[in-house]
Parts: sequence; structure tokens; C-alpha cells
Amino acid sequence: MKDEINLLLVDDEDDFRQILAKRLTRRGIHVRQAERGQKALQMQEQQPADIVILDFKMPGMGGLECLKKIKKMPGLTEVILLTGHADIHFGVEGIKAGAFDYLSKPVELDHLIRKIKQAHHKIKRLIGEKEAAAFKERVKRQMVVAERLAALGTMASGVAHEINNPLAVIQESAGWLQQILEQPEMQDMPRKKDFQKGLERIHNAVTRTGRITQQLLQAVKTQTKETADPSTFVEVDLIKLVQEAVSLVEPEAAMNQVTIELESDDPHPSAWSDPLQLLQVLLNLLSNSVHATQEGGRIIVCLKVSLEEVTIIVKDNGCGISEENLPRMFEPFFTTKEADQGTGMGLYVSWGIITSLGGLISVESELNQGTTFTISLPGNNGVKET
Ligand SMILES: Nc1ncnc2c1ncn2[C@@H]1O[C@H](COP(=O)(O)OP(=O)(O)OP(=O)(O)O)[C@@H](O)[C@H]1O
Ligand SMILES: [Mg+2]
Repeated sequence: MKDEINLLLVDDEDDFRQILAKRLTRRGIHVRQAERGQKALQMQEQQPADIVILDFKMPGMGGLECLKKIKKMPGLTEVILLTGHADIHFGVEGIKAGAFDYLSKPVELDHLIRKIKQAHHKIKRLIGEKEAAAFKERVKRQMVVAERLAALGTMASGVAHEINNPLAVIQESAGWLQQILEQPEMQDMPRKKDFQKGLERIHNAVTRTGRITQQLLQAVKTQTKETADPSTFVEVDLIKLVQEAVSLVEPEAAMNQVTIELESDDPHPSAWSDPLQLLQVLLNLLSNSVHATQEGGRIIVCLKVSLEEVTIIVKDNGCGISEENLPRMFEPFFTTKEADQGTGMGLYVSWGIITSLGGLISVESELNQGTTFTISLPGNNGVKET
């Protein structure tokens, strides 16, 4: 929330409203005006003000009704009611309906400004509390997933390890049979071609399984490594990094007419981190988004940097993820793709990388609407000096 106060002044008395608006503007408050409750509601819908000053007695929709409707709208608007001296008891009714406070006319300017500042302060506090609660919730969810992943990782790596030995025996035996088939005395062996074809299939399947177990063992290693090696940390130019990742998925995106855009509120956003690891995560997320979007799809990478936090958001308008699948996203081997299209390791590996870099990764999605992955990394406050 910006420090400038955005105010909507609603009063049917033109002179009173205009003079008050002028005075408030002189005090640095951004004021818009409405002469009727109905108009105020329309303006709130289009561009909600932080604070609404509302006259109680107006022709058409009265202040109380308008207040109730404003309080039902999304957002954190605070309303200060203005009542006539004789209708001061209405103010209490207004407070019950959610008004921040009420003042009776004629209004004393300094008093009104004090009230406006208090209301603004309340909104700022509520926003802070909401953000803190959302962050807490994210960390909590991350911890629940982390525990499950750790258990799954231990089990999966145990299995991968066990599979590697028989796999080596199969590979070796297939190679041995291949050698025998190539001996001169086997030249006229019946159905020799079919044997060769079968051995080739065994060889391919074993190579693929070996790759998966290798990937899994590598991923579990990253997961269990609590923190990344700080000697690999440099000042990462985030725009360059995103451009590099985009250039790698661009051919596939272009083929499906999917556009990838980059947004940043800082012209030179940077993070103190490991560029290769971050590149791998971005590639995983972007390629998933390309796979999830159809022709004409849109992917947006959004960068936000502050001293406390570096945020990378990858958002697409693709097929989305069902509520049932959402909690399983980061599990090893969780995939909805065909066996030769995906192994289900991309997000598991990405999770491990971001966690080891001291960050958080989370996902939000709505089926048929799109998916948003949010990565938060530690900010740049003071970590860069050596
Ligand atoms: N942006 C997205 N939109 C919709 N579904 C997604 C998105 N990202 C991931 N998913 C779902 O999550 C699953 C797991 O993704 P993950 O990257 O871990 O594995 P994968 O893409 O299936 O295989 P790979 O190991 O090749 O990455 C995907 O199969 C897909 O169902
Ligand atoms: Mg993937």
C-alpha cells in the first residue's frame, strides 16, 4: 500500500463537498468526489479508495445503505460517516454497520484529518497482518510437504539403489548375449533378427531406467543437502537468467504459438544465489507451463526484488491442476504425462534446489484457468559483502 491516501468524498451538498475536497487536497490527500451513493458504489467498484467519507443523509441511496454495500465489497476500505448534529445517534448505527467512525457537521478539518490518518493506519496494519498470515500459511504448507517429501525421498532412493544392481546384471547379460549372437557360428541361427531386436529393446529400457534411478538419487542428494554451497553464489542478473531460460524453451513455445513475457518492477533485478541451480528450476517451470498451455497460451515471468526478498513468479493460462493433484505436485515421480514425455522429477528437483538455496516454492492453480508458481529467495540485504 502506498503512503498517499486515496479518498472518496461522497456528499450531495456541492459547495460543502468541493470546499472540503480542496482543503483535503491541500493537505496531500488524493481526493475524488461523488454526489450520490450510487455513483460512489460505481467508483468503488472500478477503483476502490482506501477511505470513503460518506454523508449520512443523501437523496436516493442513504449513507447507511451505501456503507453496508461498500463494506461488502472486496478490499479493505474504511468509511467515516458525516452526520448532521441532530442525527448523531445514526452514527452509532453506522459503527455497528462497520464504519470506522462518525463525525458531526460542521466538520473541524484537523479533527477529520486525524481520523483519516487513523483509518489509513488501521488499513496498513490489516494489510501487514494479512501478509504475515499468508506467509505463515505458506511456510506451514511447505513444512508439511517437506516432511512427506523427505519420507518419500528416503524410500524412493532406497528402491533406486536396490534397482541399480539387478539393472547392471540385466545390462551386462544383454551385452553378453549380443556378443554371442555376433559369433561366426551363430551366423545362420534361426530368427536371429528377432533376438537382436529383443536385446536392443532390453538395452533401451535398461538405459532409461538407469537414467531415472540416477536422476532420483541425484535429486534426493539435493533434497537432503540442507544448504547450497555458498562458494557457488554470485550476483545473479535475473533478467539475463530468465532470458537464457526462455531462449531454451522458446523453440517449443513458438511451435505451439505460446508467448513468454517478462515483467520486472526493477530495471536491474539481482539475487545473491547459484545461477545454474536457478536456471534449472526456471527451465523446469517454463517447460511445464509450455506443456500445459495450448495454442495462443501466455506465460508471464514476473520478478520482484526488495531488501528482504526476491520473488520469481511463473504464471500461465494453461490447463491448470485439479484440487486432487495439487498437493502431490512436488512428489518424486508424480506426473500426468505419458511415460516417454515426463518422469515427474522436474518439480521434485526444483523443490530441493529452492529449499537448499534458502527459499520457498509454492503453487496455486485453478483447473482450466492456469497455474502460478511462486519462488521466494532471501533478499539482498547485506549478504553480498565478502
Ligand atoms: N504449469 C503447469 N500447469 C499444469 N500442470 C502442471 C504445471 N506444472 C506441472 N504440472 C503438473 O505436474 C506434474 C509434475 O511436473 P514435473 O515437472 O515434476 O514432472 P513432469 O513435467 O511430468 O516430468 P519431467 O520430469 O520431465 O519434468 C506434471 O506432469 C503436470 O501434470
Ligand atoms: Mg516437468
